[in-house]
Amino acid sequence: MKSQDIRKAYLNFFESKGHLIVPSAPIVLKDDPTLMFNNSGMAQFKEYFLGNGTPKSPRIADTQKCLRVSGKHNDLEDVGFDTYHHTMFEMLGNWSFGDYFKKEALAWAWEFLTEVLKLDKDRLYVSVFEGNPAENVAFDQEAWDIWKQYVPEDRIILGNKKDNFWEMGDQGPCGPCSEIHIDLRTDAERAAVSGRDLVNADHPQVVEIWNNVFMEFNRKADGSLEKLPAQHVDTGMGFERLCMAMQNVTSNYDTDVFTPLIEKVEQITGLKYTSNEVKNVSEEQNKTNIAIRVIVDHVRAVAFAIADGQLPSNTGAGYVIRRILRRAIRYGFTFLNTKEPFINKLVEVLANQMGEFFPEIKSQQQLVTNVIREEEASFLRTLDQGLQLLDKVVAETNGNEVSGAKVFELYDTFGFPKDLTALILKEKGFSYNESDFESELQKQKARSRAASEVSTEDWSVLIPGNVETFVGYDQTENEVKITRIRKVDSKKDGILYQIVLDNTPFYPEGGGQVGDKGTLVSANETIDIIDTKKENNLIIHFAKQLPENIEVDFVAKVNTDLRTSTSKNHSATHLMHLALRNILGTHVEQKGSLVNPNYLRFDFSHFSKVSDDELRQVEASVNSQIEAQLQLVEHRNIPIKEALEKGAMALFGEKYGDSVRMIEFGESKELCGGIHVKNTAEIWHFKIISEGAVAAGIRRIEAITGDAVKDFYKNQETTLAEIKETLKNPQDILKSVASLQDDNAKLKKQIEQLVKEKVDGLKDNLLADFQVINGINFLAKQVDLSMSATKDLAQAIGTSKPNSFVFLASVEDNAPNIHCYISKELVTEKGLNAGNVIRELGKLIDGNGGGQPFFASGKGKNVAGIKEALEKVINYIK
Ligand code: ALA
Repeated sequence: MKSQDIRKAYLNFFESKGHLIVPSAPIVLKDDPTLMFNNSGMAQFKEYFLGNGTPKSPRIADTQKCLRVSGKHNDLEDVGFDTYHHTMFEMLGNWSFGDYFKKEALAWAWEFLTEVLKLDKDRLYVSVFEGNPAENVAFDQEAWDIWKQYVPEDRIILGNKKDNFWEMGDQGPCGPCSEIHIDLRTDAERAAVSGRDLVNADHPQVVEIWNNVFMEFNRKADGSLEKLPAQHVDTGMGFERLCMAMQNVTSNYDTDVFTPLIEKVEQITGLKYTSNEVKNVSEEQNKTNIAIRVIVDHVRAVAFAIADGQLPSNTGAGYVIRRILRRAIRYGFTFLNTKEPFINKLVEVLANQMGEFFPEIKSQQQLVTNVIREEEASFLRTLDQGLQLLDKVVAETNGNEVSGAKVFELYDTFGFPKDLTALILKEKGFSYNESDFESELQKQKARSRAASEVSTEDWSVLIPGNVETFVGYDQTENEVKITRIRKVDSKKDGILYQIVLDNTPFYPEGGGQVGDKGTLVSANETIDIIDTKKENNLIIHFAKQLPENIEVDFVAKVNTDLRTSTSKNHSATHLMHLALRNILGTHVEQKGSLVNPNYLRFDFSHFSKVSDDELRQVEASVNSQIEAQLQLVEHRNIPIKEALEKGAMALFGEKYGDSVRMIEFGESKELCGGIHVKNTAEIWHFKIISEGAVAAGIRRIEAITGDAVKDFYKNQETTLAEIKETLKNPQDILKSVASLQDDNAKLKKQIEQLVKEKVDGLKDNLLADFQVINGINFLAKQVDLSMSATKDLAQAIGTSKPNSFVFLASVEDNAPNIHCYISKELVTEKGLNAGNVIRELGKLIDGNGGGQPFFASGKGKNVAGIKEALEKVINYIK
């Protein structure tokens, strides 16, 4: 079966069992401070397990794009070395939210594997949780009894907490699980050693394929377990491993999920990959195989993350993506000898292969390719710089062990990986001090750990079971009650309190718009709310302190000044998005947005600089929409299909529900949950203040509206008045500036003429000052000229005599400069070298410099050193 058909078979099967099939959530997570990337199918449903929301259906199934490269589940360093771990992988999953439980889940899993896919029953093993008395969780008798109906007892294995109790993070929903493993070894191998002994033993052909988790508990901040209000099922099957089993191969990389990518790498590099069936490959071939696996694995992770809106960057999720891509680049650089960008060329293969099921990779293909190409080029440049630095380090090393601290410096500042450094050093017959490197690394880790430490308490629930409602589209003030609170202590922000209300007018940060600020007011006190964010479907208000009495009624009041300014910037963002598409073309798509009370920032796909003329057109277009006084048309709950039919713009990487909110101003129609003006006239005016690049093919515009534009023009006016005053209040300011420029040009010309005359005069004098020493025409003098004139003079008089050695010095802006000219014949015959002269004598003026053997210049800080330099220079010819 082809991988495409295996995916379809799974989804069809669970649809036939009453499951609603949903699309994969974006690979990059929003609204969850505890997780950067989707690391399992259940992540997008976490709020349902926690009871913070209700799913569309009690039975759901999908295939989820997952990334396990940070946090609790992290496979990055294994990837490439074995045949069955990945950074990005697809997880097939089926869920019950308080609906079916163990009996159905296990029966269906067995039916799908053995009757639909017809996998060999004799190759399957299942595991059951053995229990954990310390945590008061019993042996899973129920799962054992169910399995006994299908599987002989000697294929049922007991597993401990590490293998058979699934937790998504340090806190949150969890429970015992039952795994299904498959033994893909040959008959002879299976006869010799029982698969039972190899389950969970890291054997590459005896691997877990499916995990059925029975969600019953919530892990609290203090480490204890509490029962969840209802019982759920959460399953996850490794798609690539299932393909391996179905396609009769023994490596995920030999399935059609990877072979097209591998073929492309072979074609580009001219190297060959050997499948897992080929045994006893050479050391060299093994390295090639590892590098190719690293690259075809990593390109998937990076491409899908970029398609979902996560660009490589220097912080957070963007940094993780950058590191994955760099790992691939350096494996190519070191083992496949690729010195030019090439990974970007795999995106086309990926898009052709997966675009049908994941349309985002097809529609974003060009952008993803460009971004990867640019990253590759820039990291290859860094590697090159690193190589040069390494040469320098080696040159400065006595003995043949380079300092570990230096290697760490290369790693830390240039991203130059230590294994690559080690390899290059080895080629030069050097090594480095590993324990010094390790200790520097540990020090740095401790520093960043300390900076990011956060401790989060469990919620104290005042009013249980309440589902908070957002009333902020209609109100900025409302009567509220506090339903839960908790304390969060972080190195970054200190102690903050998080407050959840029964209903709230506060907009939580989202869709680029910052969270509302404001106050919570009771009869006796007022508490400042400094920010509002969303987490697992809860709206969380941040405060530096809690009210003394938390059980009374409060009025939640949004700071309307800030909110109004923000809404102007948000509505202007929509108008600008439309204007950009109309003026630059419909390839323009939003790639990032920030909307706060002060300004708006908008990143979008476009392949060249936006010209000044285009920017003026965009401004004019937005301002005409403002002048047209367009009324806001808000569809608060419209089926997504209908909104898209009406022409609403949707964004990749956003998770939309079945019904959405659509914001319309004239022609502008966007799916958006943010806060907007009621009429575009409220924006007053729109002004672009900057345009630039953020990544390959991504431009950024920053703009202002409303009062900020008034301030902007006021500042311009003040500056203009100041210029006028400086110019002594001329009638026509432009004319006055033009005449200043004119005068300036004339004066420059005059000065040049005067300097030339002075140099000519000096030249005549200096020619008379030459001394003949050892047959060399020697001259050393300080002159009173600018640095550039001194340099020209040294060359001019040097060339006017044969066998000449000229050394001139001067001072410009309190800084000494020196220049040395040596005739060609002296360089070739006597081995004199102007570069060496300047390097040596440069030390006397506290400076540096260099150049050719015939001519060199230097600049320093110590004027007093000139005297000694002039005295010592004669030694070079004596
Ligand atoms: N959430 C479970 C896992 O990732 C199914 O293994």
